Amino acid sequence: MPELNLVLLGPPGSGKGTQGERLQEDFRLPYHATGDILRAAVRNGTELGAKAKEYMDRGDLVPDDVMVGLIAERVSRSEASDGFILDGFPRTTAQAEALDAKLDELGRTLTAAILIDVSDDEVIRRLSGRRTCVKEGHIFHVEFDPPKNDDICDICGARLEIRGDDKPEVVRNRLRTYHEKTEPLVAYYEDRGILRRVDGSPPPDEVTDHIRAMLATLKMEEQL
Ligand code: AP5
Repeated sequence: MPELNLVLLGPPGSGKGTQGERLQEDFRLPYHATGDILRAAVRNGTELGAKAKEYMDRGDLVPDDVMVGLIAERVSRSEASDGFILDGFPRTTAQAEALDAKLDELGRTLTAAILIDVSDDEVIRRLSGRRTCVKEGHIFHVEFDPPKNDDICDICGARLEIRGDDKPEVVRNRLRTYHEKTEPLVAYYEDRGILRRVDGSPPPDEVTDHIRAMLATLKMEEQL
């Protein structure tokens, strides 16, 4: 496959970050998780962080113009010439159209939009037990993927925290926002023939195996 340009779609807590980290290791491609970029900006007190914080705290989407600029610049970098993995972008039809326009300008197209599908009940179970490393954003779950030592990241040794937007009332708003603003992208990518659905409910390793198998099939189809 000449390039691998991937988008990870799915409700909050479906496992986009968990699978995105693994895909990044598999393919050694630039991986851009918009939530991680925004949280780092909030932590570092940047102008972007100041703009984004109030939206994120409520579980609302940050305005499209802010997000589009951020991603358009990243997919244009030379390090993304073999491909990229986007997690959490696009999240609205306007963002999807802007990404298509940018890729068109670069003479490129998306390879696949991978939908990691889980129920709302599963989202709530997952986000109530999630722990995130404060330094690099590595992800754990107290029940499904526990760290070896409580509250310490296995990978970089930083402290683990509960994300501010994992409070139950904020999670409910994030789910509402997902169904209203982001779910229409399933039809958007289906219409373009690049949607690939993956059942996100089995354990993480099984989901990874399904995604790897799906990408291997895509690669074979490219070579036919
Ligand atoms: P963002 O950080 O992108 O949040 P999200 O999409 O709500 O997704 P999450 O990070 O919560 O979940 P995930 O799918 O990555 O799941 P994870 O792997 O962690 O965005 C945050 C905010 O930023 C937004 O609300 C918005 O304000 C703003 N924003 C970001 N992008 C934007 C955009 N493009 N436009 C506008 N605003 C934007 O897994 C969850 C838990 O489940 C973990 O504990 C994990 O260990 C566990 N787990 C994962 N997989 C499994 C499995 N298969 N079985 C059991 N447990 C599992």
